[in-house]
Amino acid sequence: EKSGYEHFMLKEINEQPATIYDCLRGRLDAVKGTITMKGIEDNIEALVAAPRYIIIACGTSWHAGLVAEYIIEELCRTPVEVEYASEFRYRNPIIHKGDVIIAISQSGETADTLVAIEKAKEKGAFIFGIVNVVGSSIARASHAGAYTHAGMEIGVASTKAFTAQLTVLLMIALKIAKSKGTIDEKRFSHLMTELEEVPEKVESILKNSQELNTIAVKYKNAVNALYLGRGYNFPIALEGALKLKEISYIHAEGYPAAEMKHGPIALVDKDLPVVFVATKDEYHAKIVSNIQEIKARKGKVIAIITEGDEAIAGMADDVFAVPPADEIVAPLLSVIPLQLLSYYIGVAKGCDVDKPRNLAKSVTVE
Ligand code: AGP
Repeated sequence: EKSGYEHFMLKEINEQPATIYDCLRGRLDAVKGTITMKGIEDNIEALVAAPRYIIIACGTSWHAGLVAEYIIEELCRTPVEVEYASEFRYRNPIIHKGDVIIAISQSGETADTLVAIEKAKEKGAFIFGIVNVVGSSIARASHAGAYTHAGMEIGVASTKAFTAQLTVLLMIALKIAKSKGTIDEKRFSHLMTELEEVPEKVESILKNSQELNTIAVKYKNAVNALYLGRGYNFPIALEGALKLKEISYIHAEGYPAAEMKHGPIALVDKDLPVVFVATKDEYHAKIVSNIQEIKARKGKVIAIITEGDEAIAGMADDVFAVPPADEIVAPLLSVIPLQLLSYYIGVAKGCDVDKPRNLAKSVTVE
């Protein structure tokens, strides 16, 4: 049931402190410095020796894979490729001996992902599934895996399953990096603590949800929108744009912020809202100049920033602040206001936010 929320989507957005905690529970112990995941432990040799990880998914799950690419390459120093399952399945993909396929799916029934897995299996790949629905087809087709424990997700637009996927992926990356010796004890322990603090930080973000409703009303009549980010926040820009498209039917595009000068900046005018996912990280100074470029062309800037970031707060038309966090963990925080922004714009436009037109919760057809 909706437990008093107006829509399942809002309920599921607000469940995220609990669902991220449930994802960590019984697995991550920051005090002992251990992460317990049987699916990883039973296959740790194959995962450590893998010459490459190929992540296969669709939609929002593909965005989780893109975040994982940055995390795994940074922590495990293993090359990662992220593939749309629908493209992978029709190519004649090159699979080397020892390659590990990571298949990500909330429903575990997405046809494109399921067929892509079967094709990879024919070529001898080891399949590790990250799935939310227990006993689903993709869970059963995988050689090993980890469930995301986000509970049933009713809203067609995926929210709590996405942050649960990111949580599992980060734990997997930490476990493999520890086994490979590509992360030192200090950083491992720091990231364990950072991950453990996420549910509480998400809770504090949700307390300020109404700020997003105010921003949503200002921009609900936009026809187009751009979402920009760098590094770990680039996939979050893509996810924010997908949420807005799905829920409000406003055309939105996610882009690496630095790519604007290679063409898309021609789109910028006074009617174009540009959402920057701009939490404090190594790219901060670059993002500040990207925002200046947009403002110079009269674009409207909405910025997701880290609390205390006066520089961007003084430049943007609207800001929403999230608590400070390590850049590797920041996507778990920066996506929350984007979920809320798309939800409130959809509601302001009178859209059916739980069952958007043309969409199905699980795409079990090609
Ligand atoms: C997400 O908001 C969308 N509903 C859609 O892109 C979804 O992520 C995609 O269809 C993949 O679904 P899955 O995770 O169940 O495989």
